[in-house]
Amino acid sequence: MGGAPHDDVNWMGREPRPSLDLRTDQPHSARVYDVLLGGKTNYPADRRAVADLLASMPIARRTALENRAFMHRAVGYLAGEEGVRQFLDIGTGIPTEPNLHQVAQGADPTVRVVYADNDPIVLAHSRALHQGTPEGRTDYVHGDLCEPEAILAEARKTLDFSRPIAVTLLTVLHWLPAHADAYEIVRTLMDAVPAGSALVITHVTRDHEDSAVGAAAEGLNAQGSHVTPRSRDEVARFFDGLELAAPGLELVERWRTDARPDAPVGLPAGPSQPAEAEDIVPLYVAVGRKPA
Ligand SMILES: C[S@@+](CC[C@H](N)C(=O)[O-])C[C@H]1O[C@@H](n2cnc3c(N)ncnc32)[C@H](O)[C@@H]1O
Repeated sequence: MGGAPHDDVNWMGREPRPSLDLRTDQPHSARVYDVLLGGKTNYPADRRAVADLLASMPIARRTALENRAFMHRAVGYLAGEEGVRQFLDIGTGIPTEPNLHQVAQGADPTVRVVYADNDPIVLAHSRALHQGTPEGRTDYVHGDLCEPEAILAEARKTLDFSRPIAVTLLTVLHWLPAHADAYEIVRTLMDAVPAGSALVITHVTRDHEDSAVGAAAEGLNAQGSHVTPRSRDEVARFFDGLELAAPGLELVERWRTDARPDAPVGLPAGPSQPAEAEDIVPLYVAVGRKPA
């Protein structure tokens, strides 16, 4: 596993290049998520964290799978129905097929995608995020969402900021450290893109499952993470000034689940967690468009 950083990866102009210290003794969000998706890019510490997580929040695995399925629907909608040709995906995660560029370029092979993540393990595996269509383009930036201007500067090398761009922030905003102003970061990103651009967010909430999500967040935070579940109103604030695409800000299982039956919306492979029918997957999702 692992692998060397690649020469074709953007470094946000900082020297020295980031070292590839994977800290395999501690759970990392990208690898924990990989365990939940049934991936192989993880270590015992990550698997122990998932065992603890599932003990306190059994719906966590289904939440990860639903998050992924939403990405397929939302990207299929934007690239296939709305004609958006450019995507900036921040907090990409360890590559899991189909990746965002595969969904988008499946709708239109000319789509350009820039991925960004701050985890060295994603960097180590970013080769898979460069395998786009010859007509389109995919690039990877090793960057931190807490420094949006630096990511934007690198993204400008691949994306045309005079044309609409979909900014996708999928299960990443609730991982931001305490010092980060998540609203200011999103505003900076959306101020940089033109009218017609889109903001796509998935965000964990404790609105419906207070004890389970709260306990899970506390467990992860005790292991060194900083997880901030947000309420519906708090997630809605990210979309201030944008026009929400139907059906608006919704729980993940209520967002266009009947749309585009031809789209690649199948759940990725991975062991599924039995869940009661009445369980609510605690994830808010929405697509907003920047008006003219
Ligand atoms: C739960 S995974 C989500 C992966 C993917 N977006 C998805 O929804 O399938 C969260 C990802 O966000 C990344 N991440 C967390 N904080 C970040 C930050 N400040 N800047 C960039 N990436 C970050 C983690 O490294 C991890 O890969």
